[in-house]
Amino acid sequence: MKALDGIKVLDFTHVQSGPTCTQLLAWFGADVIKVERPGVGDATRKQLIDVPGADSLYFTMLNHNKRSIELNSKNETGKEVLTRLIEECDVLVENFAPGALDRMGFSWERIQEINPRIIMASIKGFGPGKYEDCKVYENVAQCAGGSASTTGFLDGPPLVTGAQIGDSGTGLHLCLGIVTALFQREKSGRGQKVSCAMQDSVLNLARVKLRDQQRLAAGPLKEYSQFGEGVPFGEATPRAGNDSGGGQPGRILKCKGWEQDPNAYTYFIIQAAVWEKVCDVIGRPEWKTQEGYAKPPERLDKLNEIFSTIEEWTMTRTKFEVMEICNPHDIPVGPILSMKEISEDEGLYATGTMVRVDHPERGEYLSVGCPIKLSDSDVEVTRSPLLGEHTSEILSDVLGYSGDDLDRVIGSGAVGEIKAEAAE
Ligand SMILES: CC(C)(COP(=O)(O)OP(=O)(O)OC[C@H]1O[C@@H](n2cnc3c(N)ncnc32)[C@H](O)[C@@H]1OP(=O)(O)O)[C@@H](O)C(=O)NCCC(=O)NCCS
Repeated sequence: MKALDGIKVLDFTHVQSGPTCTQLLAWFGADVIKVERPGVGDATRKQLIDVPGADSLYFTMLNHNKRSIELNSKNETGKEVLTRLIEECDVLVENFAPGALDRMGFSWERIQEINPRIIMASIKGFGPGKYEDCKVYENVAQCAGGSASTTGFLDGPPLVTGAQIGDSGTGLHLCLGIVTALFQREKSGRGQKVSCAMQDSVLNLARVKLRDQQRLAAGPLKEYSQFGEGVPFGEATPRAGNDSGGGQPGRILKCKGWEQDPNAYTYFIIQAAVWEKVCDVIGRPEWKTQEGYAKPPERLDKLNEIFSTIEEWTMTRTKFEVMEICNPHDIPVGPILSMKEISEDEGLYATGTMVRVDHPERGEYLSVGCPIKLSDSDVEVTRSPLLGEHTSEILSDVLGYSGDDLDRVIGSGAVGEIKAEAAE
């Protein structure tokens, strides 16, 4: 048994934010029915193509364990089929541009009329207010949510991060909202609307930077490198390079081989509790008792000197040796792992965090499996559906169309061309 067995999800999502959410629901056992425009489908199917003719990795890596039905929701028969899907499903998830669902004729009020138990979950770029009508993509959200202004180095421009905190981050937030609403429905019997704005989700993930914004009123942020460098603080939380976001100073330091390998670096945190061990490991035992170094607050104006000294030591070791030496002492360090190194880490495959998936059009590819582990609900990652692969079975098995009625729907052009079953 899977946690969400019996839950049907009408997946009206596309690109990354919404599909991240519905993929998690599918991994937890929901029957996720992806509704796609006939002949076109989710735009990402054909974005960043690496294998000509096959669905892209962009699409396959975000749409595992789902079924696909082609449906033109602007055609009259298409609207009829969509209405039947809304009747049958427990959850509808969408991330269209603002107003798109209303323009199709499916406002929240109408959806509730069709199925009062349904949970309708939406992602938009912004919440209600002056930007509510904007279309938004990942990096726009990173900028509008406060992340970009606080990422990068003090003397450089704002930076976006490689982690998709706007898209996948919002999908995660939405998923939590959906399962919470399902839980409430158990008691209330009613569905509800769940909304997540990408700006809000990024801001939630950048919470510590709003913390620092307020701390500025009390004086300089002493754990930021710029304090030790004597650079005055301005009105807003500054970019802090690779400084740690918590109270314990940390930096990215070069390791052996850094001249050739762009990822021969380690993160190194000088946590107060293990300072003496750090001093021993790097060969500076005198710092354990020396005035100006022995106590954490005294060290804050010397972080450049301290980390340069630690770096002289880390540069004599590989990033993995640094880890092996520091870990037994509980000194928090972390190698900078490249995507190549991660994709070759068999330990991650053993836990299901990385998976190898077979696909009829593209052969085997790698993907990230479910990062949330439930002890009583196993996840088996199966490939993403081909466009319209399940149109026929969804019409008949889920919606009960048969005989002349089924022929009528197929003949209307609302559901694209019915595909023969895909070869596995
Ligand atoms: C991501 C985004 C910018 C993409 O914009 P877009 O490619 O122009 O796509 P839209 O969502 O505007 O949809 C385009 C049209 O396709 C239509 N459409 C989608 N599926 C359809 C279907 N199955 N049948 C018929 N029409 C369909 C929509 O109704 C819309 O028509 P309209 O403009 O007449 O209302 C936009 O969807 C958005 O801002 N989404 C919310 C925020 C978000 O999730 N962003 C991150 C994405 S990773």
